[in-house]
Amino acid sequence: MPRTVPIKLTVNGVQHELAVEPRRLLVDVLREDLALTGTHVGCEHGVCGTCTVLVNGESARSCLMFAVGADGAEILTVEGLGQGARLHPLQEAFREAQGLQCGFCTPAMLMVAYELLQQNPSPSEEEIREAISANLCRCTGYQSIVEAVQLAAARHAVAGAR
Ligand code: FES
Ligand code: FES
Repeated sequence: MPRTVPIKLTVNGVQHELAVEPRRLLVDVLREDLALTGTHVGCEHGVCGTCTVLVNGESARSCLMFAVGADGAEILTVEGLGQGARLHPLQEAFREAQGLQCGFCTPAMLMVAYELLQQNPSPSEEEIREAISANLCRCTGYQSIVEAVQLAAARHAVAGAR
């Protein structure tokens, strides 16, 4: 039986006590142990950004973090943005501005956009492009994602909603 370590994670405001093997990645614990499959896995090497979540308010690649390294942390995943069946206004903006096609990159794009708009409610186009530049999208060419973030900013989707 592999050795496990007790950890506590607060995910989307809910505290979890877990026993995890030290080798397990945060993204796998989120997806497999907590069934929060909105956080996607792409490259598993820290390249694509698809696994991005907020850890203590800052974006982090959850494929590069061991879950034990997040012990005691507050984590926000895409499931924590909306309220039940109601989409977060940032998610609405992505839908309306067609900021997604296949949607595989979308949860992570939402998380970096959420982080950006919390820090800077009125970003320039350049600042939006800079913020999303670490996340790969195979479908949209990024223009519609930028427009979605601009729409969300114009509506104060993040600053006004929380
Ligand atoms: S899956 Fe984590 S950066 Fe690609
Ligand atoms: S919408 Fe398909 S990867 Fe971004």
